[in-house]
Amino acid sequence: MEQQKKVMLSGIQPSGDLHLGNYLGPLRHWPEMIEEFDCYFFMADLHTITVRQNPADIRRRTLTQIAQYIACGLDPEKCVLFVQSHVPAHTQLAWVLDCFTMFGELSRMTQFKDKSAKNAENINAGLFTYPCLMAADILIYQPDFVPVGEDQKQHVEICRDVAVRFNGIYGDVFKVPEPYIAKVGARIMSLNAPETKMSKSLPEGCVFLMEKPEDIMRKFKRAVTDSDTERCVRYDPQAKPGVSNLIQIHAAATGKSYEVIEAEFEGKGYGAFKPAVGEAVVECLRPIREETERLLADKTYLEQVYRTGAERAAYVAGKTLRKVYKKVGFLPQ
Ligand code: TYM
Repeated sequence: MEQQKKVMLSGIQPSGDLHLGNYLGPLRHWPEMIEEFDCYFFMADLHTITVRQNPADIRRRTLTQIAQYIACGLDPEKCVLFVQSHVPAHTQLAWVLDCFTMFGELSRMTQFKDKSAKNAENINAGLFTYPCLMAADILIYQPDFVPVGEDQKQHVEICRDVAVRFNGIYGDVFKVPEPYIAKVGARIMSLNAPETKMSKSLPEGCVFLMEKPEDIMRKFKRAVTDSDTERCVRYDPQAKPGVSNLIQIHAAATGKSYEVIEAEFEGKGYGAFKPAVGEAVVECLRPIREETERLLADKTYLEQVYRTGAERAAYVAGKTLRKVYKKVGFLPQ
């Protein structure tokens, strides 16, 4: 008898252009997984509007993100690629989960605290209940693993808590998934502020996947290194956060270990190291950028990919939703 494949799922918000943190954290691992697991990867567009957005930008970035997923190696024949808003079951399940998630739990989410501090004029209900929608995104496909960066771990944990609570009341409805966090690249820091994570909101310290090589090189040459007197390339995130972040980026981009990188740059100082990391990143991103540009010229193909993806996703999501609706007591249609 053929053994059932394990299921894996993840998504990225098209709230900004994809950056090196998204890529070196979770995304670069996804293509390895499509052979072994049944994989669902989506553009989390519903999540973007918790913060005010320009509608045309969301559309452009969503389409670009599909092309980038494929360019990174996600073959649409081997995994399900779709746009979150094309599968209404996510929001339908989210409402049910809203009613099984506690106000206190949501109040403890660090991302909610950070984002509401940054958007004090727009602390909307969506920003608060966002983890319920994310839990719905996950639980509706019954995955075993959810590959994310370190910053999303808390959201996967609340998803597990909600699943356990729901199962405790209604029986085994949801599989309780595990977060999958890679050792190298799980938290890529900003190039010009290495104590904060790399994100689109600090563009000078952030490298975007579609950026020109000369801009990438400029950002790496200006990267903040540490003011210690030692000035050697050594991995020590406490004492040398800037250099350690660059070592992590180099390791993730080239597959080399920290020790090999330290040995390679022994006695060479930061002046040689920073452009070398820049070059490693440029070479790692070049084929992705070129392939994305090629794919973006073929909108018909991309449309066909996301339409097929949404159909396949909706079929699986519908099964879980019907089960949940029945369990909670909604009259079947
Ligand atoms: P988002 O869009 O902020 O980030 C997408 C993924 O990139 C990771 N990431 C990083 N990893 C390492 N270093 C960084 N500097 C860095 N910045 C971002 C994130 O951890 C994430 O894995 N809520 C999610 C999207 C989402 C989702 C889901 C993910 C919605 N539904 C269901 C998994 C499953 C988010 O906002 O990620």
